[in-house]
This record gives sequence, C-alpha cells and structure tokens, in this order.
Amino acid sequence: MITDIVHIDEKGIDFDSKELEKAASIIQSGGLVAFPTETVYGLGADAKNEEASAKIYAAKGRPSDNPLIVHIADISKLNEAAKEVNEMAKKLADAFWPGPLTLVLPKHDDIPYATTGGLDTVAVRYPSHPVAMALIKKSDRLIAAPSANASGRPSPTLASHVLEDLDGRIPMIIDGGQVGIGIESTIVDCTGEVPVILRPGFITPKMVKDVCGECTIDPGIIANDSSVKPKAPGMKYRHYAPKAPLTIVEGQKEKVVSYINSQLLSGKKVGIIATDETSGNYTGGEIISVGSCDDERSVAHNLYGALRQMDGLDVEVIYSESFETPGLGEAVMNRLLKAAGHQIIKV
Ligand code: TXA
Ligand code: MG
Repeated sequence: MITDIVHIDEKGIDFDSKELEKAASIIQSGGLVAFPTETVYGLGADAKNEEASAKIYAAKGRPSDNPLIVHIADISKLNEAAKEVNEMAKKLADAFWPGPLTLVLPKHDDIPYATTGGLDTVAVRYPSHPVAMALIKKSDRLIAAPSANASGRPSPTLASHVLEDLDGRIPMIIDGGQVGIGIESTIVDCTGEVPVILRPGFITPKMVKDVCGECTIDPGIIANDSSVKPKAPGMKYRHYAPKAPLTIVEGQKEKVVSYINSQLLSGKKVGIIATDETSGNYTGGEIISVGSCDDERSVAHNLYGALRQMDGLDVEVIYSESFETPGLGEAVMNRLLKAAGHQIIKV
C-alpha cells in the first residue's frame, strides 16, 4: 500500500478541499487516516465499524485488549458514543471540551467491542485541533483513534513520525505540522462517584478537582512496580520506549550533571536528555535539550521528538534529567518513567 501524505494547514481550512474529501471518503469506506490533534497524531477509523477498528490494531501491532478513544466534533454526538452521561461528565465536558481530555463512560450499544477492547465502557474525546474537527465533521462519523505510532514507540508529534512507523501500512497521513501539547490527553474515569485520573495529561488533577470538587488518581499509575494493575489497559504496557535503555537521573542539578558526565567515561555512545540550563555543562555525548526546566509545556512539547531523535543517533545508552512534577510535569514524568521502564537513579 502506498501511503499518501496530504498537507492541511490548521488555519483557514477549506471544508470542500479535495484533500479533506479524500480523507473523509477513506474513513467512510472503512479505511485508516492519520491526522493531527492538539495532543499527538491519531490513527483514525469509523468507530462503529468493527472491521475498520480491527485495521487499526493490525496497522499498529496493538494488543487487542487495549481499547481505542472515540473522537467527536460536536457535543451532541456524545450520546451516540455513551449510553449514560452523568453530571460529573457533563461538567467536565463543559469545562474542558473541545480539548485534551478523555472521559470514560458506559458504552452505547452501537459502539462495537472491537473498538472498546471488549469493555462495556468507552473513552470519548472532543479534540480542539481544527484539522481533527474538520475530518470528523466531513466524514460524519465518530472516529476511533489511538496515537498514530507503532505499538511501543513514542506517540507521534509530527507527520514524519507517523510515516517512520506506519509507511506502507495505511493509505493516508494528513500533515498538519507539529502538534501543540505533545503528550496524550488526560483520561478521567467518570463511571464511579468520584472522577478518577487514569492517565495524567495537560488537564491536571487540580483542574478536575476545581470543577468536580473531588478527584482521585488511579493507584495503578502511581505504583512503580506491577503489583497494582492500572485501570486503563494501555497504561500497563511499556510504552514510549526508545531503542537504547533509558535511565532517569534524579537529584540536585549539579549532581545530576556530574553523574552523567562520569558515565561518559564508559566508552559507550551516550545520549543525554537535558534542559537549556544544563546542556552546556556536559562534557560529551549526544545532547538534546527539551527546553527550559521551568517550562513544563516546552518539555511536554519536545519530549517524544527527543526520544525518537535518540533512536536516529544510534546511542547505546540514554540518560535523562528528571523534571519537576507540579502540574503538567506529573504527566511528563509519567511518560518518561514508562520510557525508562522505571529505571531511575537518585544522586
Ligand atoms: O491524546 C490522545 O488521547 C490521543 C489522541 C489521538 O486523541 N489518543 C491516544 O490514544 O493517546 P491511545 O490509544 O494511544 O491511548 C488510549 C488510552 C489507552 O491507555 C487505553 O487503554 C485507554 O486510553 N482507554 C481507552 N478506552 C478505555 C476505557 N474504556 N477504559 C479505560 N481506559 C481506556
Ligand atoms: Mg498510544
């Protein structure tokens, strides 16, 4: 299969353009289209079409028990994805949609188990990216979409990342440039009495608490061993893994730098994930800065690209500085810890 790449700029989208017509017709006929969202690129298919969902699993090499997120572009469509929408979900949708938030609710009978990985619940998101919205509206379908990477690879933040992983496996990629946020949406389970964060993201626990009065975090995503199973099936896999083993070095900045510098003496080719403040202090290695250590947004924006770049540099080991974890930093560290298989050294 030839993978077609079309460019659609998020500014001034022409709803009748031939690119959008073609993408929508692929979705309608049960095919796959990769497209930009404000978080990461998604790999879309008609959410109500079992065979279309099955194609997503095949293209990504994704385990079949890992459910997909159903994307909508109109709040009235929420009732087509979910059977019941409680007050908690309504409040959260009202506060954060369109945006980087996914709500887990009881699934509508029309959503096949092939899309929900056999679960009776469904994850729903209303993305704010204009290209994502245009594609969903134009195809007039609910679009099931996981991140558009091969299973186990970092989520794509550029169309070229999608091509790297899925070239020849999907008919179309819509290139809308680099995505804004850079890490996947916050997932909130709304099926209980209290909202539960199943995956941290741009929408923080505090933001959820401000809206609902309460918010808890799934113990399975905090535990750094496998004793507590995460409630979102995808969170149990070692995701976002670069090819070389990655170790996070935590501690006072000077100590972190001197520890990593001492590892340069090993003779191995070392990759270093650093910040603007520290990158000049390393004495060797392949250094990639993900931005200022005070700017959580920039770190989130650049992290997956940095992990992919490391693969291209053929490094044998990677060390990463650790990042502060108030707000968005928590989501960044969650992803980094998974990429490192929880390998962390305190200095
Ligand atoms: O930002 C995002 O959410 C991106 C863009 C494309 O929207 N999508 C994304 O999808 O990250 P994916 O498939 O890579 O991650 C979906 C996560 C997985 O961890 C999956 O297990 C969880 O959502 N999930 C989906 N349905 C669920 C459900 N019914 N209950 C619990 N977790 C669910
Ligand atoms: Mg993913």
